[in-house]
Amino acid sequence: MENTFWSKKVQSTEVLDTSRKEKFNENNRKLWFNLLHIRSNLKILEVGCGSGHFTNMIKRYFSSCQVYGVDLDANHIKFAQNECKKSNIDVNYQVADVKNLPFEDDSFDIVFSHTLVEHLPFDDFIKEQKRVLKSGGKLIIMRVDMVKKNDKPFMYLEDEINKVYSTFNFPQDVKVCGYLEDPDMTMQRLNQYNFKKIKFSYDRIIYYMPDVENKKVAISQIEKNYQTKLSYALFETERCNVDAETKENLVNILKSQYEERLRLLNSNKKIFDFQSSLLITISAEK
Ligand SMILES: C[S@@+](CC[C@H](N)C(=O)[O-])C[C@H]1O[C@@H](n2cnc3c(N)ncnc32)[C@H](O)[C@@H]1O
Repeated sequence: MENTFWSKKVQSTEVLDTSRKEKFNENNRKLWFNLLHIRSNLKILEVGCGSGHFTNMIKRYFSSCQVYGVDLDANHIKFAQNECKKSNIDVNYQVADVKNLPFEDDSFDIVFSHTLVEHLPFDDFIKEQKRVLKSGGKLIIMRVDMVKKNDKPFMYLEDEINKVYSTFNFPQDVKVCGYLEDPDMTMQRLNQYNFKKIKFSYDRIIYYMPDVENKKVAISQIEKNYQTKLSYALFETERCNVDAETKENLVNILKSQYEERLRLLNSNKKIFDFQSSLLITISAEK
């Protein structure tokens, strides 16, 4: 039977994809590619690739690379394959468990993950990635620092939105991030697995700050931000069995918030609201 736990219970494919389009965009593409050590002609695997936004971006800009993505969730993989087809690029996607990768030993130059390490025991997470990496190949582990944050999101109608969400019955049985630990611990574990050149970097990626951008980028940031919030709202109303009226109310408030933000932009009233992702990247060599 197909595994669709993540897309049905944790985050729909749309929520994942819109949020990744928002964070991993043309503006900060070079930074992401540098952190992932992407160059031409490499064989690259993303484990836990979700909707495939990263992998598709890599293939789009580095067409000489052979790019692979695996994820446990069949809906995510179907979505990733479709996006690929639409953009006429060739990424090899498969439903697979990081604990049992369908690849030969020593086959990849880079194996990376973004927000996967915190979801399973480290031994399960690492063993197969090490096996499929070439000797001298790079392992890249990315995750978000969920502790620190001092963003300034757009607050118009935010209390109204939170009031609606406070009436939702969120399922209590869905637990993720069960293996979150400090990055120094992850580095010690990699050391125990005999990885070399273990490095750490910490980057703040400001992916939304429309008032410092040109008009076209600013509008695209506001729209992507709205799409992320909207797809999250649609997923949560479905998951929490919310009635049609409450759902419509929430969608309307989000739309008003979006329209107000566009109005401020168009009337040249700057407020410098911003949102960022605090990215932890650990790299090592096999
Ligand atoms: C937070 S999402 C991140 C997705 C993607 N890396 C991104 O950042 O957009 C975690 C992903 O890991 C996948 N996943 C969880 N356990 C897995 C496993 N054992 N093997 C492969 N994928 C797994 C989930 O299906 C989900 O797509």
